[in-house]
Amino acid sequence: MSASANAVAEPISARAEGPLSGTARVPGDKSISHRSVMLGGLAVGETRITGLLEGEDVLATAAALRQLGASVERDPAGTWRVSGVGLGGLAEPADILDMGNSGTAARLLLGILAGHPIRCFMTGDASLRSRPMKRVTDPLCAMGARIECREGGRLPLMIEGAEPVLPITYELPVPSAQVKSAVLLAGLMSRGETAVIESVDTRDHTERMLTHFGGTVTREAIAGGGARIAVLGEPELTAADILVPADPSSAAFPMVAALIVPGSEVEMPNIGMNPTRTGLIATLRDMGGDIEISNERIAGGEPVADLTVRHSALKGIEVPPERAASMIDEYPVLSVAAACAEGRTVMRGVGELRVKECDRIAAMKDGLIANGVTVEDGPDWMIVEGRPGDIAGGAPVATHLDHRIAMSFYVLSLVAKKPVTVDDAAPIRTSFPNFLELMRGIGAQ
Ligand code: S3P
Repeated sequence: MSASANAVAEPISARAEGPLSGTARVPGDKSISHRSVMLGGLAVGETRITGLLEGEDVLATAAALRQLGASVERDPAGTWRVSGVGLGGLAEPADILDMGNSGTAARLLLGILAGHPIRCFMTGDASLRSRPMKRVTDPLCAMGARIECREGGRLPLMIEGAEPVLPITYELPVPSAQVKSAVLLAGLMSRGETAVIESVDTRDHTERMLTHFGGTVTREAIAGGGARIAVLGEPELTAADILVPADPSSAAFPMVAALIVPGSEVEMPNIGMNPTRTGLIATLRDMGGDIEISNERIAGGEPVADLTVRHSALKGIEVPPERAASMIDEYPVLSVAAACAEGRTVMRGVGELRVKECDRIAAMKDGLIANGVTVEDGPDWMIVEGRPGDIAGGAPVATHLDHRIAMSFYVLSLVAKKPVTVDDAAPIRTSFPNFLELMRGIGAQ
């Protein structure tokens, strides 16, 4: 069964008795880690991955690739070695593929499976089984795959890959790197060009990594915003070494903690600075956050930098809605920063938050209100009224199997008058296994 299905809840809360200080070494990027294992599994030869995120989500991807015939192993030095089967070479697994809590693992792998003439069954934990899959199964069926889902287009599902795979041009109905990636990955197994049109830029790690493995990817910007991204089918994908930068979405938690705990100064080295991921840094700076960016460089094909974050008096702002895709996973912790800012913070164009690991607008609203913060919301917006230095706390919050909700309320607890109890810390292991240790290392209790 899924990793967290039968787990006993692990309540936590946190305090900061003084400033946070020191160095926060954030683990590897989750999006890049999934893709490195998947593309490594499809390439010819051995891919060596340094800095892979060893969270439950990525381990679910690794386990699935093993079930499909690739070899995915960690050597004693911590480098992961993936021996690929070659494009189109995955074999039918003997059992159900369990993607745990991970939407990225499920949706990207469905793209790959859609291009293999094998039959697979896929499931996940209660959170993943409630999430919409039609957004990927629709285009994959248009490419020739046969997919039978549970009612409402949910997992568990059965997929039989297409033979041949039909190249398509697909306009994304929602801004989603997972859907874009699923279509492009299926397109690898087609004879021809598969294209995706997106109206706003979403994270481009799949495109970058495909190029790194020898694939042909083109991107044409569209006047007025967005792009047409295309892959050529049947490339020679050759194993290539990968260096995974630290995850900016994980860095967001110690970053906001350092901004709101008085007197803090925290260093965060080697953070991924891909422009499709840096919306939170821009937003926190607009709010008056002191975030210094130094040593900007390219490492393993991705931009990275070292950050120094200092406690700052934040002020509420209107977050530009066009920034949403570049910080979609960071709104929960942004709403904590907003609760600690002078004035109101308005977040619009964030309807996608309702279909993440849980309904993140509802989860943040309920938890913030219970702890003395005023929040209003609508289908695709949320407004937080800040109460700097005056957050009551004291109320328990439900994490709904969502790692980012758990970590956000942990951060709020640092500055609330009374501790906030998070009902279950276990989901944090999906993306940030050393979170509690890292936070203790910079002074949280
Ligand atoms: C991801 C894309 C985003 C993001 C998720 C990771 C990816 O999801 O929320 O955490 O790695 O492609 P959507 O594609 O649903 O926006």
